Amino acid sequence: MLVLGIETSCDETAVALYDGEKGLVANRVFSQVELHRRHGGVVPELASRDHIERLLPMIEAAIAEAGIAPQAIDGIAYTAGPGLIGALLVGACLARALGYALGLPVIGVHHLEGHLLVPALEPGAPDFPFVALQVSGGHTLLVEVRGIGQYRILGETQDDAAGEAFDKTAKLLGLGYPGGPALAALAERGRPGAFEFPRPMLDRPGLDFSFSGLKTAVVVAVRGLELNEATRADVARGFEDAVVDTLVAKSLRALRATGHEALVVAGGVGANRRLRQALKRGAEAMGARAYFPRPEFCTDNAAMIALAGHHRLAAGEREDLAVRARARWPLDELRAPGASMGPDFPASGS
Ligand code: KG4
Ligand code: ZN
Repeated sequence: MLVLGIETSCDETAVALYDGEKGLVANRVFSQVELHRRHGGVVPELASRDHIERLLPMIEAAIAEAGIAPQAIDGIAYTAGPGLIGALLVGACLARALGYALGLPVIGVHHLEGHLLVPALEPGAPDFPFVALQVSGGHTLLVEVRGIGQYRILGETQDDAAGEAFDKTAKLLGLGYPGGPALAALAERGRPGAFEFPRPMLDRPGLDFSFSGLKTAVVVAVRGLELNEATRADVARGFEDAVVDTLVAKSLRALRATGHEALVVAGGVGANRRLRQALKRGAEAMGARAYFPRPEFCTDNAAMIALAGHHRLAAGEREDLAVRARARWPLDELRAPGASMGPDFPASGS
């Protein structure tokens, strides 16, 4: 089964074609980062308009890249949430319209389910069950993945996401947007221990996170300081170490609590070198293994949406013609593939 995947939940327009037998046959991502940079963050209305302009040409390019006729496509999967509602609607409407025109089944996919299933795009993927650490600009959570559609949230952030904390701290240090990679690069030149920031919620049991206090601690620490290059690097290093220690400690705690032996790391912050090293070492020390999808699968992409949609469509899951998009959509509402949605499908497991 060949599935066209469409992702427009935030500031990446992405299109992919995933074949059940051949794997990924096309994968294209356009990042809007230049469009939003001068605003210091994503502007939802600009994001929606840019998705409208780029999506259809990108689908045409993906079809050309795969060297197939549009008629070869067997189904369409789009990100139905969570995300920016206007941006989501662009993908949802186009997916529905294309599906109607081509007579294909169309399915709305949960963005985080896409991230969680990404390891299957790589050789040597871990078997279920595993623990996933999802760390991006919008999300920070630990999930027990027992199978497709079988997710238990073990812990999540009570305020800022880890990537958001990176971005806000970077802004404070005068680095551009998005600040995570720039802050990580600056931290390379900083001295460990020059600034000691709190490890939020490490002293408490449980697997939740909180990063807003850490951000405040940075604000307080730099107040009145002359922020020369060396001091900024020291602050960046202190901040990065605090975030990394917290994410690693909670991830290992989650492995211990569930008894699972595999940890999958997903989301943009998963690109952080020091985090990757520490998770790898920590997992190995307890006889477990950390898996890191390659960077282009860690950040937002449509390969993961096509893959997740493929699992559901291949299991016979179907939706009616309603255009569905949800800004908020709790992950634990998902079920194993197979249940169909909408009034045309009264047998649905809702
Ligand atoms: O998953 P992603 O591309 O987009 C979503 O948020 O959905 O994640 C982007 C986030 C941003 O906050 C960015 O600053 C952060 O990931 N990030 C990093 C690094 N690379 C990207 N944070 C820390 N270290 C990095 N090397
Ligand atoms: Zn994402």
